[in-house]
Amino acid sequence: MNHFFPPEQYGALHDGISEILYSAEEIQQRVMAMGQMITRDYEGCHPLLVGVLKGVFPFMSDLLRTITIPVEVDFIAIASYSAETRHQGVVRLQKDLDRPIKGRHVLFVEDVVDTGLTLNYLLKNLRAREPASLKVCALFNKQRRRLISIPVQYQGFELPDKFVVGYGLDYRELYRNLPFVGLLKPAVFQPEKE
Ligand code: IMP
Ligand code: MG
Repeated sequence: MNHFFPPEQYGALHDGISEILYSAEEIQQRVMAMGQMITRDYEGCHPLLVGVLKGVFPFMSDLLRTITIPVEVDFIAIASYSAETRHQGVVRLQKDLDRPIKGRHVLFVEDVVDTGLTLNYLLKNLRAREPASLKVCALFNKQRRRLISIPVQYQGFELPDKFVVGYGLDYRELYRNLPFVGLLKPAVFQPEKE
């Protein structure tokens, strides 16, 4: 069992949070349940978990250790080209997978599915490499923001149409180290100008 400090101990970071949406304990419990489902569904399949850096790393790390069958992990890293291409979900691969996935059972692991544009683009890219299967596991879902319908086979929590931080999710690279997920105070959050 993971142990975390109480939220107040995160001082200046905690001061920027207006509301905790999911506590560290709730997240750990849900991740454990997701890992058990994956363990059951992928028994005998030797799956490969693929994550997108950096936001996914705490979730990937916790999820991985709740899966009790043989499993491999790989990561890709992406960067948006520009404001214009971002709206089409077109991204540049900064780091590709280390190994081919042809014939492998691939589980794509995401922190949050928002518009779905990035995920849609990446799934197309992976599908072209002919995996035996390709499913999606996302800890957080913002259904109301979805622009492209994407089946998510394993889902953790629903989020409101608001900007959240913590558990890997950042605001200007900060707040990733919070073990819980919460809303930023309006005084802290300034939406990016496009
Ligand atoms: P989309 O689904 O293409 O819109 O992009 C999803 C990505 O945007 C996620 O992988 C996150 O990196 C980022 N993202 C979306 N919503 C949030 C949020 O509320 N906080 C922090 N990052 C977010
Ligand atoms: Mg991100």
